[in-house]
Amino acid sequence: MPLPSHEAATGAAYDHQAQRYTDFATHHHTTHPLHRALIPAFTDLADPARPVADLGCGPGHVCADLHTRGLRVLGLDVSARLLAHARHTHPGPAFVRASMRHLPLAPSTLGGILAHYSLIHTPPDQVPETFTEWARVLAPGGPVLVSFQSQEPGTHTEPFDHAVAPAHRHSPEHLVRAAGAAGLSEAARLLVHPSQDLRRGWAQMHLLLQLTTVSGRSPNRSVPAPSPSFLT
Ligand SMILES: C[S@@+](CC[C@H](N)C(=O)[O-])C[C@H]1O[C@@H](n2cnc3c(N)ncnc32)[C@H](O)[C@@H]1O
Repeated sequence: MPLPSHEAATGAAYDHQAQRYTDFATHHHTTHPLHRALIPAFTDLADPARPVADLGCGPGHVCADLHTRGLRVLGLDVSARLLAHARHTHPGPAFVRASMRHLPLAPSTLGGILAHYSLIHTPPDQVPETFTEWARVLAPGGPVLVSFQSQEPGTHTEPFDHAVAPAHRHSPEHLVRAAGAAGLSEAARLLVHPSQDLRRGWAQMHLLLQLTTVSGRSPNRSVPAPSPSFLT
């Protein structure tokens, strides 16, 4: 499916800075343990019988981390060059070029969804439909781990000068409300203190959600086993 224009533009911007971004992101992941702190909980909550998806996976280092924890992993991104790097560097997970708003997956396919600093590039008015799409492909009870630059409590989502592509600093309340409307309820949150962000002094939020209700379906309904090929 062709990408909507702003997502194609985001992908092209990351293509342009692929090596620079890869160096930054992989170094950040290995040197900042607090930003990885909820990944073990996400792994334990994910249904091991189903694949998990890293939406906006970039160079694939978080996919590789999840893969070493024993999960089947699908990385999706809009940047062809970052995906090429990911496939070359991390042979375990599968990597696909697709939008996180239009996932090429059947309903209830995934055992979990992780979006590490990628929802920041979704315009705020598209966040509700994005969560609805995630809820569609997630199995009941499945965890969602969303990480983002956080606004102060009580303040609004606003744009910031991201080095690669237009981005927003989200208000946790705004995201929790939008997620709740899609059936994704807050299970836990980790706020990394602003003093840990030496560059901008911003809080970073790692928000763990779980799919509790799905419109038109009972939350506890039994779900058929996924087909071996989980891409539609
Ligand atoms: C800040 S980077 C984060 C990459 C990686 N998750 C990490 O933690 O290093 C944002 C990533 O999200 C991807 N992205 C942005 N909008 C997207 C969308 N609508 N669908 C899929 N990927 C998207 C970008 O191409 C980029 O790789």
